[in-house]
Amino acid sequence: MSIVAYSGKILYRGNLVDAELGVDEEGIIVGIRKHFEGARRVSFSGKLIIPGAIDIHVHFRDPGYTNKEDFKTGSMAALAGGVTTVFDMPNTDPKIKDLKSFKKKLRIANKKSTVDFGIYGGIWPNSNIKELLSVTKALKIYLYEWSDPNALENIARMIPNDVLISIHAEHPNMIKKGEYWSLDDYNKLRPPEAEIEGIKASLKIFNGKKLHIAHVSTESGLNYLISKAVTFEVTPHHMLLNKDMNLWPYGVVNPPLRSKSDNDALWRAFFRGSIPVYASDHAPHEIDEKESENPPPGVPGVQEALPLMLVFVKEGIIRIEDLMTMYAYIPAVITGLKGLKGSLESGAYADFLVVDLGNEVRIKEDMLFYKCEWTIYKGLRAIFPLYVFVRGEALVEDGEVNEDPGFGKYVYSKDFKPFII
Ligand code: NCD
Ligand code: ZN
Repeated sequence: MSIVAYSGKILYRGNLVDAELGVDEEGIIVGIRKHFEGARRVSFSGKLIIPGAIDIHVHFRDPGYTNKEDFKTGSMAALAGGVTTVFDMPNTDPKIKDLKSFKKKLRIANKKSTVDFGIYGGIWPNSNIKELLSVTKALKIYLYEWSDPNALENIARMIPNDVLISIHAEHPNMIKKGEYWSLDDYNKLRPPEAEIEGIKASLKIFNGKKLHIAHVSTESGLNYLISKAVTFEVTPHHMLLNKDMNLWPYGVVNPPLRSKSDNDALWRAFFRGSIPVYASDHAPHEIDEKESENPPPGVPGVQEALPLMLVFVKEGIIRIEDLMTMYAYIPAVITGLKGLKGSLESGAYADFLVVDLGNEVRIKEDMLFYKCEWTIYKGLRAIFPLYVFVRGEALVEDGEVNEDPGFGKYVYSKDFKPFII
């Protein structure tokens, strides 16, 4: 069998080692060694070789809102940002609430996605949970859409313990309706208390299940979660941005941008290694929509999420090991992909990035594949990967992104051999 050996500083078992990553013709890693005898060599010497990121929270808006994004543009953006696997949220049109709507999205993603993907089923009052469970192992709940969250208790009983339940935990009782003309107004309509109460209710209702709290934005929510047996995620925007920055109306997002002291609390937890998962909550809207009387909530970010953080790695502020634990390894564990994705080890798919920390740029709209053509991170420093490999295929080469719609595979299909549902 012919093997290609990629040399560089490889992130292997939590350490960077000068070694070679051996990849076979099937795109599977055969090992990490000092030297592969007789292999074809590709040298990335001095550069980092790290796992492809797994972003468990993106909205690619397809089908239904393809004016904002679609699976082709969303997956190209992901790829360019070093994200080799995404999990797409169910609030599309149709909503993903039964087999028919699921199959529609699967057909689209199979045709358009360049990166591998999971598809969330959504839990709404009229969802067919049994049908969804026959095709996916990831479900999403928007708690704030449930006038009585206790109605979820019966549904919780139907969900097996190995199914990921990601919950948007803002409590409906604490969200006010009303006009908003600033990020401060928006923060008052959806106050920090809505998050902590939403988290408490979710932990009670889904006690014992594989619960995951999406986009934690507050210090109080974070402190409550840290000792609990559930996973949770933070986003780049809740870490880097706050309501007192000059970001109206683009910075309207759910949960809202909070205060500088919440940013600081998230960073401290990030440094301590107390945050299980990093995710973008890539949620694009058109410029006209954002500039309207009622700017819809959501910011794009799947292409910048990793590059923004790689700058902090370069500065020695965070460690690459910790970052990739949050953005690849733990996401693989909780989605059932451990051993296949999320770390560089024998038997796993060769999803990896080649990063030169010297290759820093300032973010500009024209670098991004987003349909919406705006970014909240304009002008910030970023390090994009030079090469991105998905299952052994170089889809980004020397910074050039190769279009390959249809290359991406559904992670819970029979092509992903151990995961036939
Ligand atoms: C989400 C979206 O746009 O789909 N937006 C967001 O701000 N996170 C919807 C939502 O979570 O309310
Ligand atoms: Zn979201």
